Amino acid sequence: IIAVLDFGSQYTQVIARRIRECNVYSKIYPFGVSTAELKKDGVQGIILSGGPSSVLLPKSPRPDPKIFELGVPVLGICYGLQLIGHLLGGKVEKSRQREFGKGTLKIRKKGKLLAGLPASLQVWNSHGDRVIELPKGFEAIASTENSDVAVVQDAKRQIYGMQFHPEVVHSERGIEIIRNFLTRICGCKGDWQMSDYVETAVQAIREQVGDKRVILGLSGGVDSSVAAALIHKAIGKQLTCVFVDNGLLRKGEREKVERIFREHFKINLKVAKSGSRFLKKLKGVTDPERKRKIIGREFVKVFDEEVTKIGQVDFLAQGTLYPDVIESVAIGGNPAALIKSHHNVGGLPKRMKLKLLEPLRELFKDEVRALGEELGLSKEMVWRHPFPGPGLGVRVIGEIKSSYLKILREADAILLEEMKRTGYYEKVWQAFCVFLPVQTVGVMGDERTYDYVIAVRVVESQDAMTADWAHIPHDILQTISSRIINEVKGVNRVVLDISSKPPSTIEWE
Ligand code: XMP
Repeated sequence: IIAVLDFGSQYTQVIARRIRECNVYSKIYPFGVSTAELKKDGVQGIILSGGPSSVLLPKSPRPDPKIFELGVPVLGICYGLQLIGHLLGGKVEKSRQREFGKGTLKIRKKGKLLAGLPASLQVWNSHGDRVIELPKGFEAIASTENSDVAVVQDAKRQIYGMQFHPEVVHSERGIEIIRNFLTRICGCKGDWQMSDYVETAVQAIREQVGDKRVILGLSGGVDSSVAAALIHKAIGKQLTCVFVDNGLLRKGEREKVERIFREHFKINLKVAKSGSRFLKKLKGVTDPERKRKIIGREFVKVFDEEVTKIGQVDFLAQGTLYPDVIESVAIGGNPAALIKSHHNVGGLPKRMKLKLLEPLRELFKDEVRALGEELGLSKEMVWRHPFPGPGLGVRVIGEIKSSYLKILREADAILLEEMKRTGYYEKVWQAFCVFLPVQTVGVMGDERTYDYVIAVRVVESQDAMTADWAHIPHDILQTISSRIINEVKGVNRVVLDISSKPPSTIEWE
């Protein structure tokens, strides 16, 4: 196990993730963790993260000074390096300004840390303070344009430090430096796997929850599904999942969730069939943001009622991922301080005094998918496209009517079926239909029709911030179009959305 001491860097979790990528188990500790605890956990190496503070400030975060005498290797990154310089008798100087950006690392001496790397590398720098005088026993083994002490080592005591961030993707071959530290210096074997993570997470959940009861809002999306499967593995019947059918779901969605979670996993699952309630509240409403607000508010009410019915509950579980956490952290803030609560259950935990259980908080999306598969969720489930909380409510343009929803559901099911059949589902970010409340003239058989329009939206994206329309082959589009028009009553026209984001958005509302 490798200990990552968190000095408040935005990248602490990224360091932990890189360590997992090297098949080594890591645990993040608060910076002030005692050497006794580290010893008890059997750590093989310690990484000191970066951080927004300056070691020159008297109140800046410091580790237990005894960590340098534990006899396990230490690697300081950025602020971590400055700590090493400052605490072990070197000299750190304040730079006039903080500078971020790419730099070229020139390696003078490789040692174990830089073994196997070329003499020159692009690295991502963050130079705030600088070490200008090395502590006794240390030598600088690489430099950048701005600093002679970009990488330092005391090979005898196995203490290492670097000014740049090897964990970020902009640092070329940074992961090899981390791997060198783990395997060549700390002697880690590199045989840790996601299945080992399941065990650790299960233990941690059991410890946190004890004999208390946990509630989880299951949406059927990847994150809440993986969280449900994991928590259920840990505490079984102490977990109750609540699935709110708001009447705005895709075709067969509720049945699918019931099949997987109730029948297959044998999870306590409460299903609140409340479609008519939502529709009533949405009657006559056309403004997209008002629709969202109404759907969100009604969700909280329904969820709240279900929780009340269950009785005593102590924890609210959420499938919050690391990217959700980082999104809500002010730059330079403490990552632990702020939690982005799932927009759908905002306001709930406070009043009910529920404690939060967020077992996926340290993981990235791809890791959550791997974890899901490890837990026995199908590939189909863990590779699902994102689906917005307000669901089809923002895909029926303007006022929502149940007759429109019915048409949209059928058309959407055909689109998804064809995307999956042709292998395009996995290649694109999202694929869905939009119902346009516009009637146009058509001819079917010998008869004139006056029916609605379905728009097909298929986009490619990395993170939903920008997106481009996917170039689906014409023959596939042809099948989709003719199937929708032939099979869905009420539709006589299908159009393709060929707008990118920006300036459009992915959803139409
Ligand atoms: P836009 O339409 O803004 O969508 O380009 C970006 C991503 O966010 C999803 N989306 C939502 N998700 N509640 C959600 O949970 C919403 O109200 C919402 N609106 C958009 C959208 O599907 C896409 O993945």
